[in-house]
Amino acid sequence: MKLFLDTANVEDIKKVNDMGVICGVTTNPSLIAKEGRDFTEVVREIASIVDGPISGEVNSDDAEGMIAEAMEIIKIHKNMVVKIPMTAEGLKAVKVLAAEGIKTNVTLIFSANQALLAARAGATYVSPFLGRLDDISTNGMDLVRTVAEMFDIHGIETEIIAASVRHPVHVTDAALAGAHIATVPAKLVYQMLNHPLTDQGIEKFKKDWEDAFGNK
Ligand code: E4P
Repeated sequence: MKLFLDTANVEDIKKVNDMGVICGVTTNPSLIAKEGRDFTEVVREIASIVDGPISGEVNSDDAEGMIAEAMEIIKIHKNMVVKIPMTAEGLKAVKVLAAEGIKTNVTLIFSANQALLAARAGATYVSPFLGRLDDISTNGMDLVRTVAEMFDIHGIETEIIAASVRHPVHVTDAALAGAHIATVPAKLVYQMLNHPLTDQGIEKFKKDWEDAFGNK
């Protein structure tokens, strides 16, 4: 399973990208709004940092508007993926964009049938939202597992991005459930990275070395 970063914060993206662990970025209107900066400017900067798929989301409700926005989004950088909400109008837009060879990420997926429809419309990626399902007492990971199984049985090539990932256990479980990608907030990368026994181990190695050899 690959990892994308789920943020529009350029400083966080730079830091995590330098570790070599991410190969793409997803944004959404809330994440862009949080930065308080122009969409095109932020996304262009992100694309200059990470050499991989960068999802930028449309805001229109109708297919025509989504397609028009998509055409502007793909002008920003060759790695742009157009993020489209899971609606009938969204699927119409995905069909048109797929025919043009434009990559799409269908977002706000909360059921296996939504994922199937998005894939059949031609989506490059589908994004089931784990955390938001867990929030309403429905197991989000079951959805990822079901979609992975369904796509596998039918040879569907649309990739599954586990989204709305909230904690490290979600990441491990999404990998085991068959997600191709998990998109994670920067904070979560550090939660995955850190372990108290690693810190204690480093301290002990340092102390033993210094006790034996001083500061050499
Ligand atoms: C994914 O593409 C979304 O941007 C994101 O994962 C939503 O996460 P949230 O439910 O924590 O807002």
